[in-house]
Amino acid sequence: MTAAAKPLRLFFALWPDDAVRAALTGRAVAIQRVAGGRATRAESIHLTLAFLGDVDPGRLDALKSAAAEVSLQPFDLVLDDAGYWKHNRIAWAGATQVPAALDRLVAGLRAALAGGQFAFDPKPFVPHLTLVRKARGGSAMPAVVPVRWRVSDFVLVRSVIGPEGSNYLVEARWR
Ligand code: 2AM
Repeated sequence: MTAAAKPLRLFFALWPDDAVRAALTGRAVAIQRVAGGRATRAESIHLTLAFLGDVDPGRLDALKSAAAEVSLQPFDLVLDDAGYWKHNRIAWAGATQVPAALDRLVAGLRAALAGGQFAFDPKPFVPHLTLVRKARGGSAMPAVVPVRWRVSDFVLVRSVIGPEGSNYLVEARWR
């Protein structure tokens, strides 16, 4: 009898380009300076579209095929919002205006996952990029300098637990 293959921990996300990543990393460090906690490493900053959690590696090809059917109309996402959630102590970056194309992307992706019998976290989509975890609430957060992000692709990410927390590996990308 062969051992069951180790599940892959997967999620779909928007993956910032270098300029957006650099701007958000600066903001994460500035927040950490006033609110403590752990700033997300530059290479890990992302916006989750759908979180699957553990997936049987034997289903990876089917998952990629399902994602390939999802259409994305390119859009600009202006990151002009910031906040802090007390319940999980996350300081985040977000957008006051959520483009309809982003909502359509998430709806299309989640429908494709459901159609392919892939389980995912069904919580409503709240677009955000986690910048600092375990931050202190009540701190005066740094002013937000809006960042414009041209989104024309989405990715499938594998989360691998390492000695310094989770490392994110981009498994596949769709335009
Ligand atoms: P967070 O940053 O708000 O914690 C990898 O964990 C990514 O998936 C993170 O962006 C995380 O959001 C998101 N995510 C969404 N639902 C999740 C869940 N049920 N468990 C873990 N991460 C989840």
